[in-house]
Amino acid sequence: MILAVETSCDETAVALLDRSGELRANVVSSQAALHARFGGVVPEIASRHHLELVFPVLEGALGDADASLDDVDTVAVTQGPGLIGALLVGISAAKALAWARQLPLVPVDHLLGHIAALYLAPSAVEPPFLCLLASGGHTLLLDVRDHSSFRLLGTTLDDAAGEAFDKGARLLGLGYPGGAAIDTLASSGDPGAFDFPVARLEGLDFSFSGLKTALLYRVRDLEPEELERRRADLAASYQHAIVQALVGQTLRAAEETGAERIAVAGGVAANSELREALEGAALAPLEYCTDNAAMIASAARYLEPLPPSGYLGLDAYASRRLR
Ligand code: KG4
Ligand code: ZN
Repeated sequence: MILAVETSCDETAVALLDRSGELRANVVSSQAALHARFGGVVPEIASRHHLELVFPVLEGALGDADASLDDVDTVAVTQGPGLIGALLVGISAAKALAWARQLPLVPVDHLLGHIAALYLAPSAVEPPFLCLLASGGHTLLLDVRDHSSFRLLGTTLDDAAGEAFDKGARLLGLGYPGGAAIDTLASSGDPGAFDFPVARLEGLDFSFSGLKTALLYRVRDLEPEELERRRADLAASYQHAIVQALVGQTLRAAEETGAERIAVAGGVAANSELREALEGAALAPLEYCTDNAAMIASAARYLEPLPPSGYLGLDAYASRRLR
């Protein structure tokens, strides 16, 4: 089995995937509640909690799979992009596990991991496809032609879609992380109640900062009782504008590239309005949209492992140049 570790942000996750592609365990311990009172992830707090959680989560995964480390033949770990201290905890744990047993190690790019959520059974999708990858840190349109790489078609010029959800939620007093909270509240609101701007960019890029400012002004202009009464309408209209921007650029990219299939992954792919709007697309299964280690194990299946002599110096990276 492949044992995968993911600690790039505020989820401590370990998964076990067997060679036939069957997921044997997928444990995710979210620290979100710990960071909520700060309104976002505090990197140093995240690192410390990863350190406390990584081995209990590993033991939980082995327990779920009814397996031991003897059943593991490869270790995989998220190398970046993400919070550097958080990544280093996962990388150190993975290196130690692999080295102690002289197993090969596969460093996995987190973005490739989100895409690889689409390769998990039972509804696995095969490349080529056009992928919309929308998360808290990225909003990307990618041309995916094989399991181990992608070509960038478009990206956000400012905030990521998930970041827009999180900042919007904060303005609406919904707490952190906000995407799921907006999604829930929006279901009882009117998406046409407020007219929020959808940035229309020339190429295949995105921009969400104007939208966030527009919400800020709307919220500021409303009396407290009015704001309370119209919160669901604001959430629905705001979400609608984000989804419109994502869907619009994705369809434009599909047309321009002649892509026959569209796939959607990343935390924002959990959004119900987006899933409905791109109904015909291959949607990453809900439980593998937000950060998890199953997707990292899935990506590792298609990557070259490093032998023990090759990974002791392996380092994390916080970001990577995509264009
Ligand atoms: O992929 P992910 O777990 O972490 C990153 O790699 O960034 O994505 C987290 C992002 C957060 O911004 C969160 O608010 C958003 O995904 N998200 C959602 C939903 N569930 C999570 N956004 C909209 N609707 C949702 N249901
Ligand atoms: Zn992620």
